[in-house]
Amino acid sequence: MKAVILVGGKGTRLYPLTCNTPKAMVPILNKPFLEHMICYLKKYDVLDIVLAMGYLPNSIKSYFGDGTEFGVKITYLVEEKPLGTGGALKNAEFLLNEPFFVFNGDVLTEIDLGDMVRLHRETNPRVTIALTPVDNPSLYGVVETDARNMVKRFVEKPGLHEATTNMINAGIYIIEPEILARIPASTFFMVERELFPPLLEEGQPISSYASDAYWIDIGTTEKYLKVHRDLLSREKLPSPCHGLDSHQYISIENSSGAYHEARIEGPVLVGKDCTLGKNVQIKGPAVLGERCEIGENAIVEGAIVWHDSKMGKSSMLKNCIIASNCHIGDDCRIPDGCIMGDNVAIGKGSRLTPQTKVWPGNYLYHS
Ligand code: GTP
Repeated sequence: MKAVILVGGKGTRLYPLTCNTPKAMVPILNKPFLEHMICYLKKYDVLDIVLAMGYLPNSIKSYFGDGTEFGVKITYLVEEKPLGTGGALKNAEFLLNEPFFVFNGDVLTEIDLGDMVRLHRETNPRVTIALTPVDNPSLYGVVETDARNMVKRFVEKPGLHEATTNMINAGIYIIEPEILARIPASTFFMVERELFPPLLEEGQPISSYASDAYWIDIGTTEKYLKVHRDLLSREKLPSPCHGLDSHQYISIENSSGAYHEARIEGPVLVGKDCTLGKNVQIKGPAVLGERCEIGENAIVEGAIVWHDSKMGKSSMLKNCIIASNCHIGDDCRIPDGCIMGDNVAIGKGSRLTPQTKVWPGNYLYHS
């Protein structure tokens, strides 16, 4: 089966990380998010992939090429203006003449696609929607089903006491190609609102595949940190493409960098060619991208740092995200929830308040 992965969104909830980097290329354990998705699809022999793109497509194309290096075939479709989840599928209609998978391009999961296909074939619906449980259904669109797994009703953000189920749309579908005829061409169109509910009202069968397998979408910075914690904790390693193998608690990728008396408490992943100064402390879960430099006596705790970022002496990073090419001066404090976009410089001695976000290319000094 073919898979269409929707990677055209701007990812505004991940700003400032996604100002220059599409969500699909945001690194998870030092590999682009989409590479983890492709590894997952390969596990189920889904090797023919269509990427429906819009926002910043070139970095995705130049990394993945035609897909050969990653063991898949990739076809790229670029939207001139955002077409939404449905418009993007309509755009791919000429490539789709058999039932196909659709994935939101920000979902990391272990949902069993083989089982989902089996259920689709048994129930013979127009669409099968994967469902995943959440703790607080009132924040989501929930999907009510009957005893035969057929969808009965879509309920958008039910009140806390109104929700009859905690199962939400997991952003993974199997779709029969004929229903694409219902989507207008070159028009912004959302399948979740404009295709699935009307199909149901007409009495067309929509099946559901409920799964409690690991599932997360990396749509927000909190979830971006959480997915790293989950992957690094080794108990839940959803992607076959993670950077650590299950016996490594601390992974230092083959490196010409120096590690003078650094103290590293796992789970930690240190990318290639990093340099750690004397008495540096790295406390997991934490990740350093390639070629990072951490000055002496600095502390990195629970932080995710992208490639080529530098941190001065005696500085501290705690539960924060630092994108690529950042320069953090000596004796800085970057506390919980701070997010630095690419190419940010933080002046010596700066004390940031928690949750500070700095947009790419800015210089910040804050005492
Ligand atoms: P936010 O701006 O943070 O809401 O992120 P987003 O733009 O990615 O939107 P959302 O998370 O709701 O999108 C879910 C999935 O659909 C993501 O993988 C998006 O890349 C994708 N997507 C959203 N809009 C479009 C679009 O217009 N075209 C395409 N091809 N994909 C889209």
